[in-house]
Amino acid sequence: MIHSAHILANMAGEGPLSCKDAGCEGLPTPYYSRDGITIYHADALVIMPGLEARQFDAIITDPPYGTETDQRPEWMIGEFANIMPLALPLLHRLGTANAAFYCFTSWKHLADWVLRCSSYFRMQNILVWDKGHHSGCYGAFSWQFCWEAIYFGIKGPRRVRKYMPDVLRHGKGSRGAMEKPTAVIAQLIEASTDRGDLILDPFMGSGTTLRAAKDLGRRAIGIEIEEKYCEIAVKRLAQEVLL
Ligand SMILES: C[S@@+](CC[C@H](N)C(=O)[O-])C[C@H]1O[C@@H](n2cnc3c(N)ncnc32)[C@H](O)[C@@H]1O
Repeated sequence: MIHSAHILANMAGEGPLSCKDAGCEGLPTPYYSRDGITIYHADALVIMPGLEARQFDAIITDPPYGTETDQRPEWMIGEFANIMPLALPLLHRLGTANAAFYCFTSWKHLADWVLRCSSYFRMQNILVWDKGHHSGCYGAFSWQFCWEAIYFGIKGPRRVRKYMPDVLRHGKGSRGAMEKPTAVIAQLIEASTDRGDLILDPFMGSGTTLRAAKDLGRRAIGIEIEEKYCEIAVKRLAQEVLL
């Protein structure tokens, strides 16, 4: 496992550090690599500078949303700032000249992330994932949360391959609150990539993007910092093609 001790240096404005700067010579041995699907068990901020530039046709990701501070009575400046300011320049470097970029977010981050993402990708739409039911994360001070936003941008002129409504309706995945439905990710993949294309998910979690990529005949690289999720992803990839 490679850790992110370099993050503070990076936040101090020293720019993205290479894999070598972060203490590893080149890329580490993948946790899993088979049939065009590769997993790195590592910090994405350490791995991404070591990946070849301009190779990914699409980046599809669901980053950590930031700190859980809802319980605190007063809002603080920078409350929802998180890993995205560090990840975005790295992601831009890795996309092909016309790469597609899909990024899940919550309504809390929407205003901030649209601005941040639009500094690196040409914004095309905000898709809505309609969960069909509430997520359980609501209380006396708000409405029930039944949808999530998906930022959709492109690096250059990339056509959508399959025309679909911008509201995607699917129930949640089965491995806890963070897992996205494979069918939702599959729709994003079908809309913006062809068979054989290469997809990156730097915050892979339980591997939904990789699973959908495999099912649809795409290649993919996933990065995940928690080994327990790498294990789940490998188990999911071992199952027969699902779609
Ligand atoms: C919202 S979850 C992704 C869930 C995924 N879409 C799924 O369907 O399972 C975000 C993931 O990013 C991982 N993560 C957080 N910081 C990371 C980092 N610096 N590098 C790689 N992965 C990271 C977390 O461990 C978590 O599994």
